[in-house]
Amino acid sequence: METIKTNDYTITIDNGLFDNIAQLLKTHTNGTCHIIVDSKVYKLYQESLKKNLEAINYTITIVRDGEGSKSFTTYQDTVAKLIQKGIRRDDLLVALGGGVIGDLCGFIAATLYRGIPFVQIPTTLLSMVDSSIGGKTAINLPQGKNLVGAFNMPEAVFIDPEFLSTLEENQLRSGLVEVYKAALLGDKNLLEDLKVDRLDNQVIKRAIEVKRIIVEQDPYDQGTRLVLNFGHTFGHAIEKAHNFETYTHGEAVAEGIIMALQIGVDQGITPNALCHEIKAILLEKHLVTEPLLNYKDYLPYISHDKKMSRDGLRFVFLKDYEHPVIKTIDQGAL
Ligand SMILES: NC(=O)c1ccc[n+]([C@@H]2O[C@H](COP(=O)([O-])OP(=O)(O)OC[C@H]3O[C@@H](n4cnc5c(N)ncnc54)[C@H](O)[C@@H]3O)[C@@H](O)[C@H]2O)c1
Repeated sequence: METIKTNDYTITIDNGLFDNIAQLLKTHTNGTCHIIVDSKVYKLYQESLKKNLEAINYTITIVRDGEGSKSFTTYQDTVAKLIQKGIRRDDLLVALGGGVIGDLCGFIAATLYRGIPFVQIPTTLLSMVDSSIGGKTAINLPQGKNLVGAFNMPEAVFIDPEFLSTLEENQLRSGLVEVYKAALLGDKNLLEDLKVDRLDNQVIKRAIEVKRIIVEQDPYDQGTRLVLNFGHTFGHAIEKAHNFETYTHGEAVAEGIIMALQIGVDQGITPNALCHEIKAILLEKHLVTEPLLNYKDYLPYISHDKKMSRDGLRFVFLKDYEHPVIKTIDQGAL
């Protein structure tokens, strides 16, 4: 068993942890556990869910799987169901699923009755190493992603890597890109270890450690936490340009990482050799495929939200391994 202590909560990683989930949840509430789960995860795990929760009071609320559920409609609908089920302020909300469920459930937990404690049980690689960590919760608006949200730390994060056995290959790759991003930002040795193709609990732990350290320096995203956006400015633009269909989040971010490296070279920040080395790794691991996308095609899709300061686009470059730099650039100069 691996544990990581953050300033606010503990993250536990253990194979088979879900079999003991009732015990773990009991340490966080004397009330009812309200599980929010997506339809796909529910279908796959309903038997073990029923068996593992036998010893506690619980309810299950199922939402449709997919990004579309990070919406006001699903928020309102889910909250209505929870109220109908008699949810109280001293109950516990439980997010069982990927980043969509974590973000939605966390936002409900932040807002329903002005706050209900919640725990995260991430079931995708992306949610294990990224979205369940750091306390950002949100839903989307027609105007853009994650525009309404709250900082809301969970009581705990329980990671059972055995969930990954049912994850589709492209979703696994999507999460792996975030592991690579973490390695590039803060753990060069992890990059070495990833060369041998092993995704074990240590890899998950080390990727989380990188995020934990960055988040704890800037929990409310006032400055340095932006480095976690490495590859995401163009990553989000690519997702948007292709209507969130052609590329998974991670696949788009992998292309976005290469674009950030290339622009970094043009700006005199990223050494050419570093750019080539990282590009070669991402190609070799099939996280991107040739022909690579051209960043100029995606400039019109860059979102003008929190990445924009009054002076221009706040962009994350890589000066060296473990040395991200944030620089404001004039988008017209790209
Ligand atoms: N809060 C944050 O800090 C943060 C960080 C990064 C991303 N995000 C958000 O996370 C979301 C993406 O998360 P995601 O990639 O986990 O997507 P997701 O939650 O949509 O899950 C991807 C797919 O995998 C399925 N799935 C989940 N677990 C499974 C399992 N064990 N076996 C089989 N299928 C399974 C889901 O049903 C879904 O179809 C986005 O909305 C993004 O904005 C949030």
